[in-house]
Amino acid sequence: MSKSNRPEKKSSKAPDSMWGGRFSEAPDAFVERFNASVSFDQRFYAEDIQGSIAHARMLACAGVLSDKEAKQITDALGQIKKQIEAGGFAWSQAREDVHMNIEAALTERIGDVGKKLHTGRSRNDQVATDIRLYLRNRIDDISGLLGQLQMGIVALAEREASTVMPGFTHLQAAQPITFGHHMLAWNEMLERDYARLRDCRARMNLCPLGAAALAGTTYPIDRNMTARELGFDGPTVNSLDSVSDRDFAIEFCAAAGLIMMHLSRMAEELVLWSSQQFDFIDMPDRYCTGSSIMPQKKNPDVPELVRGKSGRVYGHLVALLTLMKSQPLAYNKDNQEDKEPLFDTIDTLRDCLQAFGGLVPALKTRQANMRNAALRGFTTATDLADYLVRKGLPFRDAHEVVGKAVAICLERGVELQDLASSDLQALSPVIDSDAGSVLSLEGSVAARDHIGGTAPKQVLAAASRARSLIEARD
Ligand code: ARG
Repeated sequence: MSKSNRPEKKSSKAPDSMWGGRFSEAPDAFVERFNASVSFDQRFYAEDIQGSIAHARMLACAGVLSDKEAKQITDALGQIKKQIEAGGFAWSQAREDVHMNIEAALTERIGDVGKKLHTGRSRNDQVATDIRLYLRNRIDDISGLLGQLQMGIVALAEREASTVMPGFTHLQAAQPITFGHHMLAWNEMLERDYARLRDCRARMNLCPLGAAALAGTTYPIDRNMTARELGFDGPTVNSLDSVSDRDFAIEFCAAAGLIMMHLSRMAEELVLWSSQQFDFIDMPDRYCTGSSIMPQKKNPDVPELVRGKSGRVYGHLVALLTLMKSQPLAYNKDNQEDKEPLFDTIDTLRDCLQAFGGLVPALKTRQANMRNAALRGFTTATDLADYLVRKGLPFRDAHEVVGKAVAICLERGVELQDLASSDLQALSPVIDSDAGSVLSLEGSVAARDHIGGTAPKQVLAAASRARSLIEARD
């Protein structure tokens, strides 16, 4: 037998567990480590204690515990919470998870009364409740960070409402737009992301406590009371579903994946725009890093990392989908594997939102470079075609005329605005001397003066609507 296949030494300790009764030996040392989740689920100790306090109070109201017992339990849980927060709590792998660590500590403090806390409850409904409480809090943090980033984007849009830049399709210069308009496109993506987070929060905000192991419990519990006390909208409907459902976590990871996808699109544009080839923006030095070999380098590491981190968030979504796929009802230990992907998704998303929340408001625009770029690449060609339509030409014919004008420019190495009006008139007799005015960048953006258009006036109005929506959030 190879060394790695040999069973690890058995724990010499007697089973220090909540379920030792029917067992004749302690878990194998390897199994103890393999089975334990305390190293990562201790993260929701506060929610575990909050859920236990609500459960104990409910048991007292139901007459299952005396008021005195419930008070002893809830007081001691409060002290354990303080002990954890002071860093003085000894987490034990032998006690497997956050739930059993806290329950064992409770019994150590108050003796047999502590053993009554788990009446009418299972770790299955307990963990389902804890994750929902924890994720709900984190969704609230993340929504706040998202709102802060949106505010930064909207403020930048207002500042740059009239800054002309080239808009792109296929990354080829297409038509002039304003930088403010581009910023508001980013904001729209994030506005939908915010709505998705709120939907997810609303759907998950039901309390699984009372489902117990899977079938409910024989005690006269009041599920509405625990749900209310924990800030849920009500109890979950079906006990089997309550302990096995993790689709709220998957839904959150899907919403997080979309946010990361959006952040990575923004990151890509920041990287492009800060390159020497574009030179549209300048990122503050404090958000960039240098090169160990090339003294001149200033690298956009922060947006690059945000772009790169989208990969792990997508990975966690797929991990959770795969984790749940084919699981029979009700609870299975597979579900313990939901936590690390979920936690890393939360942490990654928070970091990325924080990074952009600081970076975006500190961006400096290089307006002259953007304007010069918009002057190249015939970006007002559509405006000239629209002018011809106004003079009576069908759009397809107008398109053809302007196409010919562009071909002449390419041949001469000039831009449309450099052509003499006689050149244009030679292409179509309907072109008057006023045609030159439609070729200006400012005229082009100002003419797109409708809801959703890039005219500076519209950008300011849209920014103000966007700002009010963010401010109206609770
Ligand atoms: N640590 C477990 C988890 O994260 C808690 C629930 C354990 N339930 C059980 N029946 N073993 O899922």
